[in-house]
Amino acid sequence: MHNTDAGVEGNDVAAAGQVFAADRVVATVEELRTLQLDRMRWSLGHAYDNVPHYRTAFDSAGVRVEDLRELADLARFPFTTKADLRESYPFGMFAVPREEVVRIHASSGTTGKPTVVGYTRDDIDMWATVMARSIHAAGGRRGDLLHVVYGYGLFTGGLGAHYGAERLGCTVVPVSGGMTARQVQLIQDFRPRVIMVTPSYFLAILDEMEAQGVDPKETPLEIGIFGAEPWTEPMRQEVQRRSNIRAVDIYGLSEVIGPGVSQESGDTQDGLHLWEDHFYPEVVDPITGEVLPDGQEGELVLTSLTKQALPVVRYRTRDLTTLQPGTAYPQFRRMAKITGRSDDMMIVRGVNVFPSQIEEHLLAVEGLAPHYLCVLTRPGRMDELTVQVEAASAHAGEAERAAMAMKLRGRVKERVGVTIEVEVVAPHSLERSLGKAKRISDQRPR
Ligand code: DLL
Repeated sequence: MHNTDAGVEGNDVAAAGQVFAADRVVATVEELRTLQLDRMRWSLGHAYDNVPHYRTAFDSAGVRVEDLRELADLARFPFTTKADLRESYPFGMFAVPREEVVRIHASSGTTGKPTVVGYTRDDIDMWATVMARSIHAAGGRRGDLLHVVYGYGLFTGGLGAHYGAERLGCTVVPVSGGMTARQVQLIQDFRPRVIMVTPSYFLAILDEMEAQGVDPKETPLEIGIFGAEPWTEPMRQEVQRRSNIRAVDIYGLSEVIGPGVSQESGDTQDGLHLWEDHFYPEVVDPITGEVLPDGQEGELVLTSLTKQALPVVRYRTRDLTTLQPGTAYPQFRRMAKITGRSDDMMIVRGVNVFPSQIEEHLLAVEGLAPHYLCVLTRPGRMDELTVQVEAASAHAGEAERAAMAMKLRGRVKERVGVTIEVEVVAPHSLERSLGKAKRISDQRPR
């Protein structure tokens, strides 16, 4: 399969015709659905024929690939979880001989073995295609200088961004994460128009610019492609207020391909279009697993349609979102900004709280910086949540900090319905992450 688009030569010519040309979807929704069904049949068959896990899972669910007559029949097939991938560590989920795998990535879990993923040459080509599309959707163009801060290595962020940007025809600067002062230096000297980085680390870069006396508004950066972790609408406003960047969201996960599963358009900034010709989305009830109609919030489940080395069938992402109709790419559905991972849900006195809700409210309190950590403890029988958040200014006195803490506590009580403690700490006292920020510190007794 040779498919390239987003401002590059070549087209994705499939059975139903061409899906994506240059910068837009040219297939109708009907053609897209036909293509998805064809590809889904292929993908399920490929998984069943070549991966023992899927053979066993389909057989014990009593479902056959031939049972997929329409897209909705996918609901009859079993889910795949991270645990399934871990159990087949390292290469047991590969559907092709190891020799045909040209690249390995892995995501380090917090516990136990990493999750290993593999790519054939065609998979790398498809990934570059969807990433080139993503960068183009964000507003990047051939010839742009593009600064990649996502980590290079086993993490999919760096190399995923890199191949996509090269495919689009950008001048790629593979900086990777860390050495914040040097990031600022390179931005000033090389003059990138596009930066790809986690939103939390971009804040650290902005802080460093300001510390060096560099006005972020004077840098040539125009587009920031931010992802790999949840970030809120107020965080977007914060970044756009402090710089001249259009901040857009990119989503993906290594099990499905890496970054480039879905992308927000820089023109509309209204959620992320799923590249549905390669990844089929469902949203399910996280507890019952029942498929929910578009528009209802639940857990995103993804099925790869074209992946060779590691096909995934109904992969439970744990990410919570809603599917909505497309806008910038009308034929592709959009997912709302991820509110959080079901694993990151904190239950405080019976109320469900996500770090993103805390983020949203602390950004509304003047004098607080967007650097925070949610600390969970259990002093008695109940869990308590203490939010540690930095003051924006080192000059904020005790009374001022107490007032900010009270404001945040009040907002969270009123709008989320939960009582929290707030500690306003000194600027730069919370640890900065070079990649995904750590938002929860669980100090409850085991
Ligand atoms: O984080 C891939 C990636 C790299 C995406 C660079 C975007 C940019 P993993 O390390 O496997 O892969 O982590 C995947 O990160 O299930 C989400 O929980 C979270 N995540 C990724 N993008 C977003 C986003 C990469 N835009 C996990 N918003 C996913 C919220 C995100 N969460």
